[in-house]
Amino acid sequence: MLDLFADEHPWLEPLAPGAVILRRFAVDGAGALMTAIEQVASQSPFRQMVTPGGYTMSVAMTNCGQLGWTTNARGYLYSPVDPQTQSPWPAMPEVFRSLCDRASAAAGYPDFTPDACLINRYAPGAKLSLHQDKDEPDLRAPIVSVSLGLPAVFQFGGRKRSDPLTRLMLEHGDVVVWGGESRLFYHGIQPLKPGEHSLTGEFRYNLTFRQAG
Ligand code: SIN
Ligand code: FE2
Repeated sequence: MLDLFADEHPWLEPLAPGAVILRRFAVDGAGALMTAIEQVASQSPFRQMVTPGGYTMSVAMTNCGQLGWTTNARGYLYSPVDPQTQSPWPAMPEVFRSLCDRASAAAGYPDFTPDACLINRYAPGAKLSLHQDKDEPDLRAPIVSVSLGLPAVFQFGGRKRSDPLTRLMLEHGDVVVWGGESRLFYHGIQPLKPGEHSLTGEFRYNLTFRQAG
């Protein structure tokens, strides 16, 4: 049968000035990405970090790359060492790097070289409240965010917390890239609905690549 949709995968959706969604961009390599996530987590396990205010985050996190995003009693920071293992974070897997290179180029940021990748794991009910990614020193570099597994509702707003929100479903393999004018736009993830995904089981995973150094 003639595949009328063969040329439509993946496809690009503008989101905001400087921001695009590359729909299904990571589907083909998703199995290799999951294997790499498991390897990272075997060295630096997923953990629910505690915010400076004493709140245990519902999303479980780990990192790979030269720097990893973490919390302590004083605030949020990028650290070269995993505070739980007292060892450097695992190296960024080559499959992560190559996907991020291709996605950032497709989104119009060909010079992006991430040195940090935060890996988020959402179980049913886990959410990420509206926030800005503003712990990175050089805001000229974009954020590249890869969704794997169960779908979730992503909220994307503006520079102010009170700006109107766009709500959209992020599905398996979708990549969102935001930089330029929208680099500091508020965003978040609504509570994950229970489900079963053939690759990730009851979870949603998200990789966010950053230049943090
Ligand atoms: C984040 O804002 O760091 C993660 C967003 C997501 O899970 O899609
Ligand atoms: Fe974020």
